[in-house]
Amino acid sequence: MGEKKRVLTGDRPTGRMHLGHYVGSMKNRVQLQDAYECYFLVADLHMLTTRPEKEHIDALRKNIHEMVLDYLAVGIDPEKSTIYLQSAIHAVYEMNLFFGMLVTLPRVSRLPSVKDMARAANMEDEAIPFGLIGYPILQSADILMSRAHLVPVGKDNEAHVEVTREIARRFNHYYGEVFPIPDAMIGEVPSLVGTDGQAKMSKSLNNAIFLSDDEKTVNKKVRSMYTDPNRVRADIPGTVEGNPVFIYHDAFNPDQEEVEDLKTRYRAGTVGDVEVKEKLSRALNAFLDPVRERRKFFASESGYVEQVIYEGTLQVQELANETLKMMKKEMGFTGVWNQISRKARDRMKKQENVSSSLL
Ligand code: TRP
Repeated sequence: MGEKKRVLTGDRPTGRMHLGHYVGSMKNRVQLQDAYECYFLVADLHMLTTRPEKEHIDALRKNIHEMVLDYLAVGIDPEKSTIYLQSAIHAVYEMNLFFGMLVTLPRVSRLPSVKDMARAANMEDEAIPFGLIGYPILQSADILMSRAHLVPVGKDNEAHVEVTREIARRFNHYYGEVFPIPDAMIGEVPSLVGTDGQAKMSKSLNNAIFLSDDEKTVNKKVRSMYTDPNRVRADIPGTVEGNPVFIYHDAFNPDQEEVEDLKTRYRAGTVGDVEVKEKLSRALNAFLDPVRERRKFFASESGYVEQVIYEGTLQVQELANETLKMMKKEMGFTGVWNQISRKARDRMKKQENVSSSLL
């Protein structure tokens, strides 16, 4: 503890995680666990920015359970890393307010990611809540709370880390050095195409393969995958570039020779989609098998997931309080309330003495 640099990242708990999450960020997290002190948050407050209704809050417990099971299933190890619940870290609410003073409204309201999230939630521009505009600021509070150096995220979150860097610099400049300037780390496939060929794999677009999908489901999803739309028959040359089936092969099939052979034959018009897809299914299932195994194991241990979150959260509460204290000290903000209360208590005590001496 102490000497390692820190990693912080996390996800909104909207349910199960998919292959896009894995290559965008989860794979990096697993690999960083040994070299860094890692913090992974369940960003339930961020979920509220687009889904404040009670039904979504009611779904949280189950969604959090599923999401953290996915974390454990891909190999995030609670012995090495800390998994915690954002809404239980009260110091972050305070930091969020302070950091909001260090960034301009146009800076955050112009971010395409904010508009994208609104669109994904079927929200008109005029219906965007203040809290959604503040999304990157709350994310900055998460990151800076831990005084992280590295933030592994998907491409869509890169701009938020940039906002965090600006806030950290400004804080350090106004008040004193508290924060390292964190770097974003984008996965090898920054944004994974959906099974339907749409730009992004997303649960809401119904084009996702989940880490928890069983073999049959994976096979079915792969069979119906979008390929080269211009290739109407298997004996005419096809295009490999930008073809979702090959993007997945590149991302998940460790047998490079097989992938190169399929590509060559695809370009020559000597392999059918069926074979390409069957081999992709096999590769995906081989990748997912140990994930499913671990998921099943952790799911069978009643209360385990909750214990992991509980213990992690208690630990992060301390860390966050420590950072908040450092902030207020540099800001010269610690003193105000303390001085007022000390003076008030002194007087109250004196009065008590006076009145008791009269007895
Ligand atoms: N914005 C992330 C998402 O898209 C969730 C998140 C909240 C996060 N706070 C963070 C990611 C801090 C990295 C660092 O779900």
